[in-house]
Parts: sequence; C-alpha cells; structure tokens
Amino acid sequence: MAQRTRFDWRGQDIISIRDLSREQIEDVLNHAQQIRPDPQMLVGKVMASLFFEPSTRTQLSFTTAMHRLGGRVIGFSGTEGTSIVKGESLQDTVRTIERYADVIVMRHPLEGSAQFVADTVTIPVINAGDGANQHPTQTLMDLFTIKKFHQRLDDLKIGLVGDLKYGRTVHSLAIALTRFRKIELRLISPPNLRMPPAILKELAGIVPYSETAELDLRDLDVVYVTRIQKERFPDIEEYEKVRGAYVINLKACEMLKPSAILLHPLPRVDEIAPDVDALPHAKYFDQVQNGVPVRMALLKLVLVGS
Ligand code: NCD
Repeated sequence: MAQRTRFDWRGQDIISIRDLSREQIEDVLNHAQQIRPDPQMLVGKVMASLFFEPSTRTQLSFTTAMHRLGGRVIGFSGTEGTSIVKGESLQDTVRTIERYADVIVMRHPLEGSAQFVADTVTIPVINAGDGANQHPTQTLMDLFTIKKFHQRLDDLKIGLVGDLKYGRTVHSLAIALTRFRKIELRLISPPNLRMPPAILKELAGIVPYSETAELDLRDLDVVYVTRIQKERFPDIEEYEKVRGAYVINLKACEMLKPSAILLHPLPRVDEIAPDVDALPHAKYFDQVQNGVPVRMALLKLVLVGS
C-alpha cells in the first residue's frame, strides 16, 4: 500500500535544507526507502532539468528518477544553445519554462538563484546546487546512506574533510545535522578553507564541533570527503596552494574504526586514492546509487503528494 505522509509536500519548493525539519527529512527518507519504479506514477508530468553548471550524477539521477516513475524530462546542460546566449534573463527563461513543465530542477553558479527562481515561477523548484550555498537533495541522499549503514542518524561522530569554505554539500549537511541528537562534528580543512562563520553560528550550542587542519580520522563513524572546489576560487594561485591538501590513501584508512564509512559526493579528483575503493569503508558509490530513490521520492512528493 502506498505510504501516506502527514506533510503537504505537493507544490513545495526544495531550496535549502534549512526549510526541512527532522520529521520532514525522515518523511522523505521513509518514502525513498519504500518507493519502487512505477511507470504510471508520474505519467503526463514533465520535469525541466536546467543545469547552468556541470553535473553528472545530480542531473542523470534526477532524469533516471523521473523515467522510473513514468515522467518525461526536458532541459539543457550548459546555456549554449539556449536564448541565454542572446542575452535573455534568468527570469524570462524560467517564466517560459514554467509554461512547459510541472517542476524545475536547477543548478546555477549564483548563490540564491534557486530561491529567486522559486519566487518567480508558480511550479515547484528543486535546488540542485546554487553556487557555494546549498545542495539539499545531496544532503538527503547523504543522510539516507548514513542511515542505511549505521541504522541511525543520532549519536554519530562525523568528520567533514576538504573544502569546507566553498563546498555546498558540506554546508547543507552540517545544517541538516543540527536536526539530530548527539552529533559531534570534526571539521578538517586547510586554514583558508574553513567552514564559513555563518554556518558555525548555526551549529553553535547545538552540534559540538572542532576545527583542525590535521587529517585525524580516528573515532569517526562517518568520514565525508570533498573535492577542493577549484571553480569557486577567485584566484587560481590560491587553489594551487591547497590542491592535493588531503589524500585519503590506504595508510590514512588505517586510522578508521572498523565500522566507519567513507562518503564523498563525487566527483573526486585526487582526495581518495583509487585503491581505497576496495575497502569495506568505501561507500561513495552506494551513496551515488541512493540518489535515485531519494530523488524519486522527492519528485513524487512535490508533484503528486503522498
Ligand atoms: C557536488 C556539487 O555539485 O556540489 N557534486 C554532486 O552534486 N554530487 C560536489 C562537487 O562538485 O564537488
């Protein structure tokens, strides 16, 4: 029997993880747990996939999710070939697209762009990443993966490693963790790529955290590794100074508890050595796979409700 939800998801935008309570996060994860391919569920519905920035997993998993539920997909990746190159505004672009589609999934380099589009159109908007700001659907699949392997989302020691300044996945995830109990965060980054003060302020008094530049992976239940976000550095020389700052190799993994899981939103560049993939800790490709049920659940909820 189809699961009923006590939240009114239909027509909702998914812009920031801040907008979701613990109960709402759990509701999405429960739906994701139960959802199965159903070629009738979203028949007649159209998802507009608007990717102004590169994407492999997010774009293709949303498309896969829509196809598995019988829906259709229109859109673009990269603005070449659209009227944006003729000078059309984002506002006019999305006012056009809302005449064709039932939901917009968008990724854009500007922070706040997803909220701007949500304020412009009447159809639901799902933020697939707005600059260094938020990536809420990645966070939902991260939480789904953590829950799958640890059977809980409370009482966890979690290390966030890498580019904590520009990485939107770690911004969303850190805020989501304030919804859970007995979480401890270890923030591991080069000194100039520390978690932004605004996010630390949101953690204060709720999630105890420590900040370090040392790759100390001991005692952690989850190690969440991220890529240095080269494209967001105003100065490429600054990037060159920190590239390769952390490499999780077999030696570093000797620090891990037997039950620790290694996650990464991907793409990886050189942060995790390929031979680590064979270790039982390496769960980043399971994490990738979980993107599909989580996005199936989200599309179902915002398009047809429970
Ligand atoms: C991430 C992103 O786009 O923020 N990728 C993803 O969606 N899985 C991480 C990254 O690009 O480093």
